[in-house]
This record gives sequence, C-alpha cells and structure tokens, in this order.
Amino acid sequence: MADRLALVVLISGRGSNLQAIVDAAQGDLPIDIRAVISNRPEAAGLARAAEAGMETRVLDHSLYRSRADYDRALQTLIDSFEPDLVVLAGFMRILSPAFVNHYQGRMLNIHPSLLPAFPGLDTHEKALEAGVREHGASVHFVTEEVDGGPLVIQARVPILPKDTPEVLAARVLEQEHRIYPQAIRWFAEGRLRIEGNTVLLDGRPAVGVKNRDW
Ligand code: GRF
Repeated sequence: MADRLALVVLISGRGSNLQAIVDAAQGDLPIDIRAVISNRPEAAGLARAAEAGMETRVLDHSLYRSRADYDRALQTLIDSFEPDLVVLAGFMRILSPAFVNHYQGRMLNIHPSLLPAFPGLDTHEKALEAGVREHGASVHFVTEEVDGGPLVIQARVPILPKDTPEVLAARVLEQEHRIYPQAIRWFAEGRLRIEGNTVLLDGRPAVGVKNRDW
C-alpha cells in the first residue's frame, strides 16, 4: 500500500462522509485508511468502519480535563498511524491551535455551507433564515480560524420554496459525498498547493474556476 495516501479519519457521529470515502477507496481512490477515530463511543460511523474492516479507536473527550490535554492525546494517537492526511468527517470539536498547526497543510474538513457564508453550527437553518437562493458544501484545509481555512472545492445546490432544514440538508449531503472524495483525490495526486489563503489546483485557484474533472 506504499503508493497509497495514508489517511486517518476523525468522526463524531453518523459517518456518511466516512462511508463515501470508504466507498471511493474500494473503487479507484488511491488511499489507505489506517484508522477511524471517534471522540464519541456511540458514533454510528464506528460500526460502518468496523464493517468495512477498518481499525477503529475511541478517544472519549469527556475523560480529559482540558481541550489541550485531549488534543495532545489525540495527536499522539493519530501520529501512531503515520498518516499523510487527516480527514475530519463530521468531527464536532473545536481544535486547539497547537493541534491545528501540527497538521498544517495536511488536514481537511468538510462544512455544510458555501463558506465563508454560515460558519459554525445549524447552517441549513441559517441559510433558510437568511433567504439566500443557493447553499452548498465546502471542503477546506483546517487552520486556527474555525471553518476559515483555504477552500479546496465547493458544491452548490439551489434552495427551493418549500425547503425545510432537513430537506435542504439531504440535498447538501449528497454533494458532500461527491466533493470530499474528489478533494482527497486531488491531494493524493499531489495537485494541491496552498498559497496564503488560496488553494491552487494544478497551479490555478481551486475554487472560483470551473474545475475540469469532476
Ligand atoms: C456533515 O454535514 C458535515 O458537513 C458536517 O457534519 C456532518 C457529518 O455527517 N461537518 P456524517 O457524520 O458524515 O454523516
């Protein structure tokens, strides 16, 4: 598996993005998922990972006295798998600066909005309340600013007149499952470079231009 990108995936819940990545790995995405780590013992995604024959670990944040303590333990656990890339797939924790900086340029997150619009929680409710006509999902490199790192890829969906947060979330989630494997593929192929707060794909801004191959 030496020619495959080594991944550690962090989850907190359902794990549908993890599943999309696992499915892509069982197709032609050249990755080796070394471990799936959850901060919640009850995360449904752990069962999906185990079913797919993956190494799983639980590191329960409620057993640690401080964020810094937890993040240090998490970093040690992640690094024991020697990943090339850390993938946050519904990992619902704020990360400390030391942790984020340790994985600078090699940690991705997916967020259910068209960042920089609607960082944080409840993005679908916020989009409906704001009355915007378009919504979507973004994959970005993780920086100290929550949901503020350089964007790798976005997918847009329309907001329709009768949308509820649930209906809209499902429309966005379908796109998440498409763009996360795509972002990981670009990383694996060595096609991404970070310049300031911009990600370059093959030397051109990755977001804001029409990408040729997805
Ligand atoms: C997704 O909407 C993701 O964008 C957000 O948390 C949710 C996780 O869903 N960060 P799942 O656990 O991947 O199904």
